[in-house]
Amino acid sequence: MFQTDGFTRKEGGESVELTKHEREMLEGKHGEGVAIAMKIQVAIGDSFHAKRMVPITRAHVALSNQEADLWFAEKLLKAGARCKIPPTVNPGFNLNYFKSAGKVTEEYANLMQRTHDTYKALGAVLSYNCTPYIQTNVPFFGEVTAFSESSATPYVNSVWGARSNREAAQSALCAAITGVVPEYGLLLDENRYGDILVNVEADINSDFEYQLLGYMGKKIGTGIPVFTGLPAPITPEAFMNLGAQLNTSGAYGMFHVLGVTPEAPSMEAAFGGKAPKRVVTITNEDLQEILSQISEPGGQKIDFAMFGCPHFTLRQVQIIAERVKGKKLSMEMWILTSSHTKEMADRMGFLEIIREAGGDIVSDTCPDQPCWHYLSGKTGITDSPKCAYYPKRRGLNFVIRDLETCIDAALKGEVD
Ligand code: F3S
Repeated sequence: MFQTDGFTRKEGGESVELTKHEREMLEGKHGEGVAIAMKIQVAIGDSFHAKRMVPITRAHVALSNQEADLWFAEKLLKAGARCKIPPTVNPGFNLNYFKSAGKVTEEYANLMQRTHDTYKALGAVLSYNCTPYIQTNVPFFGEVTAFSESSATPYVNSVWGARSNREAAQSALCAAITGVVPEYGLLLDENRYGDILVNVEADINSDFEYQLLGYMGKKIGTGIPVFTGLPAPITPEAFMNLGAQLNTSGAYGMFHVLGVTPEAPSMEAAFGGKAPKRVVTITNEDLQEILSQISEPGGQKIDFAMFGCPHFTLRQVQIIAERVKGKKLSMEMWILTSSHTKEMADRMGFLEIIREAGGDIVSDTCPDQPCWHYLSGKTGITDSPKCAYYPKRRGLNFVIRDLETCIDAALKGEVD
């Protein structure tokens, strides 16, 4: 047993062997902030029976801009921590935009300001974007990373073949500070094979069906799914949707698509030479059933439209711009995206088209934030089950439809 400043590792409970440098981090020789982060990571490593810590080269922190998250980040900062690996960060809300529109209280504006100041002082990359894996923080095959955020972890594991466990915002921040992670779970070859063969018989006509397919977590069950029957090509947005909804509906950190994703060129490779533990078939009826469970019913008037959960790509912004060009929306419409994509949309004239129609593109913002409280009790339309799931606790209700139907509803004022 050894003890370091209030942290005791139980005899027999120790599994992570530390290098001299890691032990010094744990013992506080690199400052109290680093020691706190290391203690948390060693405790995680011990509980998952990790044998060692391994260095990371990238991190993404899913900051939530909520008190508990901020308490933790401020605690590390006050203890002198600074990120060795500058992580990209999730959106909160765009303070200038919502403050000037008078849509946030002083209390919530202060919260966002404190979040900004704290992560800036910690040395994070203030990207405020939840899809960094396609723009600003793209790992390569085999790279060991610490990514939190529901669409991010599956994307880096499944599409890029990089390695990350399903980090929490807090454990990813600790990893960014220490520069290491405990080696367990999806960092190890043997845990990256598929468990469940998912035969998709449903018609997959657009990126939207991937949202519903991802929401089938209950039927798919626990493990790593290997999908077959998905028509080529699969767009980055489809992968983004699939991962976001899988992780929302069933805490999946990784999936494979047979013959498409890098670690699944064949059944043999995808399942590591073993038989699947489970075989599941997904039909059109399954997708319709899940949609009717998670969406408010159609045939009603709609108060607003919201897109970009996960943050929209430039191609998705373009689809909306082309569909609303020269027309007038019947309601407020927001497209949430990164500041980078917004800038590109501005350069390419999409922002102007969307604003002329009565909508807007908002950077750095998530639907699950207090800036939307003024919409409480109203019904919106979105193409994302995740967008409908989290803001429900803030009183926002959503009808979920494919993107084209959503845009048409926003123009008409109602959905069939
Ligand atoms: Fe991104 Fe927030 Fe949705 S972090 S995926 S916009 S809930």
